[in-house]
Amino acid sequence: MEMVSLTIDGIKVEVEKGTTVLEAAKKIGIKIPSLCYLKDINKPSSCRVCVVEVGPRLLASCSLEATEGMDVKTNTRKVREARKTVIQLTLSNHKRECLSCGRNINCELQTLAEEYNIRDVEYEGEIAASAIDDLSASIVRDNEKCIACGRCISVCSNIQTVSAIGWSGRGFETRVSTPYERPLGESNCVNCGQCIMVCPVGALHEKENIQDVWNAIDDENKVVIVQTAPAVRVGLGEEFDLGVGERVTGKMVSALRRLGFDNVFDTDFAADLTIMEEGTELLTRVSKGEKLPLMTSCCPGWVKFIEHNYPEMLDHLSTCKSPHQMLGAVIKSHYANVMGIDPKNIYVVSIMPCVAKKFEGEREELSNEGLQDIDAVLTTRELAQMIKEMGINFAKLEEEEFDHPLGESTGAGVIFGATGGVAEAALRTVYEVLAEKDLEQIEYEAVRGLEGVKEASLELPNGQTLNAVIAHGLGNARKVLDSIKSGEKSYDFIEIMACPGGCVNGGGQPIIKAHLRDDVDAKVVRAKGLYSEDKALPIRKSHKNPSIQKLYKDFLGEPNGHLAHELLHTHYVKRNKF
Ligand code: FES
Repeated sequence: MEMVSLTIDGIKVEVEKGTTVLEAAKKIGIKIPSLCYLKDINKPSSCRVCVVEVGPRLLASCSLEATEGMDVKTNTRKVREARKTVIQLTLSNHKRECLSCGRNINCELQTLAEEYNIRDVEYEGEIAASAIDDLSASIVRDNEKCIACGRCISVCSNIQTVSAIGWSGRGFETRVSTPYERPLGESNCVNCGQCIMVCPVGALHEKENIQDVWNAIDDENKVVIVQTAPAVRVGLGEEFDLGVGERVTGKMVSALRRLGFDNVFDTDFAADLTIMEEGTELLTRVSKGEKLPLMTSCCPGWVKFIEHNYPEMLDHLSTCKSPHQMLGAVIKSHYANVMGIDPKNIYVVSIMPCVAKKFEGEREELSNEGLQDIDAVLTTRELAQMIKEMGINFAKLEEEEFDHPLGESTGAGVIFGATGGVAEAALRTVYEVLAEKDLEQIEYEAVRGLEGVKEASLELPNGQTLNAVIAHGLGNARKVLDSIKSGEKSYDFIEIMACPGGCVNGGGQPIIKAHLRDDVDAKVVRAKGLYSEDKALPIRKSHKNPSIQKLYKDFLGEPNGHLAHELLHTHYVKRNKF
């Protein structure tokens, strides 16, 4: 490995050839501000806030390669003045509604303005006007807040390979736009919300449904039932300044009761149910050698991606609804019946780490007898907002348990929130059902971790080999699908999650504070939190969940049976590439 040595602010540093000055400075604890830069994703050098002094010149450190003998100054008066001007100019064309913006206090531009002591915006000029695009079920775009950093475009094109947004116009008219300037909701956007996660300001955010939920809670005729996805419990605490990835399951349940929900259930229960249905589907397809590989269908971003881009492969998608939809369907049928409640009076709220779930919740095929399975989807961030609005001291809450029976879950259900988790949960059940005995070793390391594409082979007790592949991030999904189409690869089972790292890094999760971003990889620590919950639970295999067993005995009959198919399975739609 070739190294170069340079001096930054008088400190000698040695870095690998090819390293940028910004990254070299980071290595020795020198912070250089940045707005458009996003490591390994976006490096357009457009904002210029990262300028440093090299000889007589001011250069953008995010794209400046460190060279042997270079002498860099990061914080001279000239540098600071230049950065102030850049921030002032950016602010002058930014809709400054900071106090009522969803990113207030966690906005990278606002933070820089504060750090650089900007007390007044000196430049007055025309502000590029733009209408708010809020027709998508999941994502709202406000181009008047956009600072044209291009991070959203890069993540959408380079990481997700969706390219639902891109540049249009020139000069002052340059803006982030959709194909033919149509609303995002009419495009091939898959609603993953990764654009929201990288936006430094408030130009992109989820479509809020908080008021709908308050209205339901305040309606005396409604029984309002909430369920929470696995990844929410390792993200929510960050909104209350608890540690990144800290597990707050009990406090979250307690907060939900204080908000006024009548029942607090766990989507993990339905993750166990999904394993029963999807595992059975897998075993059936493998035994018949039909429609293989079986692809998971838990992730609505991925489902919309395949509907747009590989409609010819839709037969391979599991027909299982995603876990929260399954739980909604069970609540409005069996649970309503047992409790003697008219399903029309039940309002089901899903708390999800995801914005695509909002779109999914509105899909008309995800309904039963004219009622949508789910009535509202809130992100982890929206839940935090409600808790704050209610004045709850989250950190001080006593821990409480989910309501039973639809709150009882296993470790297998919990790990759904991390990439590889669905595959691991399925393998635990499929193997044991075939082996007809309890397994000791149930942790499948090959499917864990952040490698973009993970392959695993499992010898089944019946002598067959199950070839599985796990991909996260839609660019990686595309690679897997293309390798199957070309005949280069062949698999039996495929797990795909649209968001890099899986749901722990979903588009509805807390946006990690800028000052923590360099030190912590949130998706790694959040996943650790889920695996530790799995380890701590007494039951770690979906088919061993007593409440699941009882649900089949009392109501559903057999996995993949007639009633299960009617309530828990769905179909898909071929969509245009756009
Ligand atoms: Fe370097 Fe924007 S961060 S130019």
